[in-house]
Amino acid sequence: MAHRAEAAPSVPSSREARRAKRRLGADPEAWDEAYRADEFARLHTLKEAPRYGIIGAWLRHLVPDDGHVLDGGCGEGALVRHVLRDRSGVHYTGFDVSAVALETARRVIGPDDAHRARLIRAGLADFEPPDPAERYDAIVLTEVLSYSGESVSWLPRFRRWLAADGVMVVTLQHPRRPDSGANGPFRAMHATMDGDMWTVLDRATLTNPRSGNAWDLWVFR
Ligand SMILES: C[S@@+](CC[C@H](N)C(=O)[O-])C[C@H]1O[C@@H](n2cnc3c(N)ncnc32)[C@H](O)[C@@H]1O
Repeated sequence: MAHRAEAAPSVPSSREARRAKRRLGADPEAWDEAYRADEFARLHTLKEAPRYGIIGAWLRHLVPDDGHVLDGGCGEGALVRHVLRDRSGVHYTGFDVSAVALETARRVIGPDDAHRARLIRAGLADFEPPDPAERYDAIVLTEVLSYSGESVSWLPRFRRWLAADGVMVVTLQHPRRPDSGANGPFRAMHATMDGDMWTVLDRATLTNPRSGNAWDLWVFR
């Protein structure tokens, strides 16, 4: 009797299984585990350069050469790598819930730029500038608001730390699934940008025609 070759059942790799089980939200331990598994290494690669290209162009126009950038949910400091490396007079403060990501960010920043950079373990809802008088020329929240349902309602907290001509920059990836938790923040952000609470200075949509991934980006004050 002829045997038919049976397709081997597809067994998810342990990394895929872990990733499927984990809901990141704003849970520091889940983020630490994801960073230990190197799941966000892509954020440093050319794949992410188009998103950072738009952010970098805005910051180039709007942040003075001796300015200060606050990077909320900074992860492994990819903003420094892509955007701030060649702006040697700009000060950088990054904060994140993940201690593991911050360790990598410290290495990414490196000893040469350590004097102008500061990393803080804090969440979006509770971050406070270490010096209450400190003001930022740009506050960047890139790919971070999607992870908490109420994140967009926290934006007004950040406004009081903007310098006189300071700007906020927010980016959000378009949610890929109708049941994704990212839909709430995505809709809330659009409603907020269409409302009269903030002045939108520029906005952009970036699309990867091959993968179908897309991002909305705003700069506003
Ligand atoms: C997809 S990563 C993006 C990292 C970085 N902004 C970038 O674009 O390269 C999301 C980051 O947001 C952080 N994060 C998620 N929720 C947060 C919260 N409520 N407060 C602060 N950081 C948060 C995570 O730890 C993670 O580092």
